[in-house]
Order: sequence, then structure tokens, then C-alpha cells
Amino acid sequence: MINQDTISKIMETVRIEEVVGDFVSLKKRGTSLIGNCPFHNEKTPSFHVSVAKGIYKCFGCGKGGDSVHFIMDHEKYSYPEALKFLAQKYHIEVEETVQSPQNIEAQNARESLYIVSEFAAGFFANELWTGDQGRAIGLSYFKERGFREDIVKKFQLGYSPDVWDALIQNAISAGHKEEYLEKTGLAIRNDKGKLYDRFRGRVMFPIHNFTGRIIGFGGRTLKTDKNVPKYVNSPESDIYHKSNVLYGLFHAKKAIRDTDNCYLVEGYADVLAAHQAGIENVVASSGTSLTTEQIRLIGRFTENVTILYDGDAAGIKASLRGLDMILEEGLNVKVVSFPDGHDPDSYMHHVGSGEFKKYIENNRKDFILYKANILLKEAGTDPIKRAGIIRDIVESIAKIPDDIKASIFIKECSSLLQVEERILLSELNKIRMAKFRKSGSGNASAGNSGVGSSGFQQQNQYQPYPDGPPDNLFEVPGAGAEAAEAAAAEESDLLQEQEVVRLLLAYGHELVSWDQIDNMYIGSFIMQNLADVSFTDPTCKSIIDTYNEEIENGHLPVASQFINNENRKIVELAITLSTSPYSLSENWYNKHNIYVRDESVNLKATILGGIFHLKKGKVARMLADISKEIKTEQDSVNLEILMQRFMFMKTVEREISKFLGTVILK
Ligand code: CTP
Ligand code: MN
Repeated sequence: MINQDTISKIMETVRIEEVVGDFVSLKKRGTSLIGNCPFHNEKTPSFHVSVAKGIYKCFGCGKGGDSVHFIMDHEKYSYPEALKFLAQKYHIEVEETVQSPQNIEAQNARESLYIVSEFAAGFFANELWTGDQGRAIGLSYFKERGFREDIVKKFQLGYSPDVWDALIQNAISAGHKEEYLEKTGLAIRNDKGKLYDRFRGRVMFPIHNFTGRIIGFGGRTLKTDKNVPKYVNSPESDIYHKSNVLYGLFHAKKAIRDTDNCYLVEGYADVLAAHQAGIENVVASSGTSLTTEQIRLIGRFTENVTILYDGDAAGIKASLRGLDMILEEGLNVKVVSFPDGHDPDSYMHHVGSGEFKKYIENNRKDFILYKANILLKEAGTDPIKRAGIIRDIVESIAKIPDDIKASIFIKECSSLLQVEERILLSELNKIRMAKFRKSGSGNASAGNSGVGSSGFQQQNQYQPYPDGPPDNLFEVPGAGAEAAEAAAAEESDLLQEQEVVRLLLAYGHELVSWDQIDNMYIGSFIMQNLADVSFTDPTCKSIIDTYNEEIENGHLPVASQFINNENRKIVELAITLSTSPYSLSENWYNKHNIYVRDESVNLKATILGGIFHLKKGKVARMLADISKEIKTEQDSVNLEILMQRFMFMKTVEREISKFLGTVILK
């Protein structure tokens, strides 16, 4: 286990904006920083970082926490892994207390995969630079292709000797386990149970995740034999998930953020070539077709993608469709194509790094216009083909979630295609309506269906059910009105419990003197008044219980201790309640038809309101329960007792209402 001193040191040192900033592009807004949430797909930022509080919170998906939670959620790290990651980032030495071997084993399974991958990369690099075969074959190959030594080193390129177990032998004698060699796919077990190296006689490209750890490899053969596959790649493993990895992202992310653009290429060689030309904001999809996850990965750093294409026309046409996917994710897509069948790598070596850089800067075209041009050229003068193009282009435009951008493209394509804007708009309208119908229940992209321009019906209002809501919208499965009522009551209980917790966290430390009380902390006051209330929501209950305990021990808890809590649910609730001061209470007050401009102006009313609304809710529930019992009770004595209890609670309810009426409403 990591010792407490180390944890404290880490917590004191980390800066939330730096930790989050490595993964999310943040912009300043007011006192906080905002960006697009990395945990759910969104196009307008609802992810907030509070530098002062050291926490983040997404108002879209609800995720929140401190720096450690961020790394845990983002990197899928365990608590100690995340702490170690942060310690490494801030050069803090980690001191650990001794643990049982089983514990170490379990915790380190994933870690071991990283470690053995790192070892393998070191081995391959060493072979490349110092091995006889490596130097003679591998290194001279890179040199022949024109790659500089600093680039070969930067990407930790290597060479796997052309023998069956060079890596295995080396790894085992360095103390690595066969199990991890196998799990990373670096070694393969044959039918006879014998282990052999996956990569043999290949130049090696380590693949990093975007925090810089090696998670897999691509190995390129140097043979011209057609029967030998050009690339052998690591298989999927616990640390390598191909669909959400982009080659080069680790080396590119800073430059992507700085330039606010990401170049997308196809192969490893293209990434190296771009870096050699001084262009570092470049990633490769590594031959597979681009996935949505990969696009979102780029979207965390920038909204602008520029595709660097091979020149051959067939390839371009085939990939046009895939690019619509990028538009759909709300990114702006530009395209650069190279002349004479060149790919970025060959073109860079052909014209030199300076010219290459100039070329891609001067030849960016917007994807939609580029697509329109290509299709137009192909169609020639054939009117039927030209009509087909219109639909094709408008389909791409319909993918763009941003209406303003879409309307600009409509304008530009109108002049390019020589078609009236009005016609393009009506086509766009049709496609969007079709999409809207298909999706049924207006999701974000379907709801977003108006391009503000002449001749197009504007539809600003978000309409989830254009044909009226379905009949069963409010039905609770397997129950009728009663269950629905119970669910509503529960929900309102929850809101009220949360409201009281919020007040506790927000104002617990304020000293007040009201009517009968003199110089009392609001925290103590609330707890005293809640003595007879039992909380039903486990998270609220646990906060209240802790609060009570601490008060009994003479401490007054602070909000931050719930934010820095081991219990994830408590952390999330505490953050929600302390970062959205009015949102919760706003809907809570609305529910009770009370208009409060600023709760701190009349703190007494706010606190008492919170307490007594909660109580009122509880009393109402008790009344409902009692009356249910009354309906079914047969025994007359019991019935009498129930009736009395009912009357009593009714009085309490009236008292509370009267009280609330005087305190809150005036
Ligand atoms: N690729 C692969 N398996 C193959 C061929 C290609 O995994 N059999 C992937 C590799 O990630 C490669 C990318 O597709 O980098 C693009 O392929 P290609 O352009 O052929 O490779 P380059 O990296 O450009 O290699 P080179 O220029 O040396 O041919
Ligand atoms: Mn190539």
C-alpha cells in the first residue's frame, strides 16, 4: 500500500487543471475552466474544472471527482495506479508499506503487462542499435528510407532478431513471466505447448497509449516475399484495445492542442515522416478503418482534423464515406491529397521536409467541397449523375451537428454545384426529417434540425415527440398509478434529503443567532433538528451519520472531507451539491412554487425551509402508509390506534405547513 504521507504529498502537489488538461482541452470561462467531457459524447462543453476546489464535474453525465478520480476514470486505473501515475507526473517518490504477495499479484497483473511491453521495447531497441542483425538489417533499412536517428529514437523503434525465441529468452532471464509474455501476445504457445516469439526478423514500432505507456507493437517485415505479411501486429490484450488507440497520439497531443488541429494519416511511416518534417500534430489510424472511439479521442484535443491522403483516386473515393463519421462527431474535416500517387511519407522524402510542410499548409481543402469537386469531376456532364451528387453531398452536410456550419456549406455547395440554395435546403430538410423519424425519440442530433436560412422552416424548439407523447410514457413497469405515485414520492424524498445535505455542506460552518438560539453553528442546528428524521437514501444517510458522529466527537465536518472520500457515491454527491449551488434547490423550490432569488439573503428561511420540507415529506409518507393500513385493518382496537396516529400526524403536518407558510412564503 502507498503510505499516507505519500498520498498527502501527491494531493498537495497535483493541480487539477494540469491533470485534466493533459486529456481535455480546457477553456477559461468565468472562474472555472470548461471543456468537452471525456466521459461522454458531447458537442457543447458541460465539463467544468474548479481550480480552487481541485475538482472536476460534468453537468452532462454527472461524473466528478478530484485529480485521482479523474485518472482512475479516464485511464481505467485502480486507486493506487492513479496515485502512482500522478506521483510520476509530479516527480514524487512513492513510499509503500509492505503488502501480502497475493495482493501485489492481483494489483499488478495489468501493471505486469505494461512492464513486459516496456521491457520488450527496450530489448528491440537495443537489438536495433547494438545487435549485429539489427544494425545490418534494421537500422540500415531505416537509414535507407531516409529516417533520421533522432526520429528512430523518439519513437523507440526497434528490431526483432530472426530467431524463434530471442525475446522470450531475454525476458525470462530478466525475471519476466511467460504468462505476461503470452497475455501481451509477444509470445505465442504452439500446439505442443512450446512458446515462440510473435515478432521475428521485423523492424518494430512500439504503440503507446496516450499517456505514453507501451501497450502493443507493429512489426514490419523487411522481406519482399509476397507470402510474408507486411505487418504483424500485437493482438488485443488487457492493455491494448485497438479500436481506441491512435498511433502517435502520445507524441502528438501537445502539438495538437497547440495548433488546434490534428493530421490524420494511414501508416506508421507517415507519422515518422511528418515528425521528421517538424509536424508533430499527427496520428495514424494504422491501416484499420477509423472508429468512432478514435474520432472522439481526437475530439478531446481539437475540433479540427486534416486528413492526409494517398493520391490514388480509388482510395480517396472509398474513404469518403468513412469521413462522414468524423463530421457526425462534430469535428471539422479538411483534406490534403498528394500528387502522383504519393503518400505523406513518400512525398516528404521526395520533396524534403521544408517543401512538405509548406505543401500541406497550402493545400488544405474543406472536406465537403473537396468531395463535391471529386464527384463533380467524375460525373462530367451527365445530368442524372449530377443529381445523384447533390443528394450525396447534402447527406454529408446533414451529418454536421452545428447548424451554422451546415448552412455555410449549403451556401458554398449551392454555388459549386450550380444549384439553388433553396433546393439544397429542402433536400437537407428531407434527410433530417427521415433521420428524425427513424430515431423515433428525438435524440440530440435529431432534435437539431433547423438551418436558419430563407426557405427553410426554422425549428428552434426541441421536440422529443413531434406526434405527441406515446401513451405509456409515464407508466411504471408492472404497476399502475399507485406505483407511479410512490416513485414520485421517493424522488421528492431524495431531492429533499439531498437539499438538506447541500445546506449542511454549504452553510454548516456559519455561526448564527436566531430567535431561541444564540451563536450556534448551522451544522449543529440542522443536526439537532433532524434527530427524529431517518434518511432513506444511503448516500445521504451516510453523510448525515458521519456528520453526526463527528459533531458528537467535537468536530465540525467540512465539505471537502466528503469530496475527498473513499466512497465514490459520497464524492459524487458532495461534488454535485457543492458545485451547483442553485441548480438543485432551484428545481426543488420550483416544485414548491417558491421563488427564491438568493438563498443566502434569508439564510434562516432557507435552512428552516430545507429541514421542514424534508420533515413534511416524511410526514406525508407516514400519513400515506397509515391510511393504507387503515384500509385493510380488520381489528377494531388496532383500527382505533391507527386512527389516532393518523390524526396526530395530520396535526403535525398542518403545523409544519403553517410554519413553512410563515417562514418561507413571506
Ligand atoms: N497495416 C497492417 N497490416 C498490413 C498492412 C498495413 O497492420 N498487412 C497497417 C500498418 O499500421 C501500416 C498501415 O496499415 O502502418 C498503413 O499501411 P502501409 O501504408 O502499407 O504501411 P506504411 O506504414 O506506410 O509502411 P511502408 O511505407 O513501409 O510500406
Ligand atoms: Mn507507406
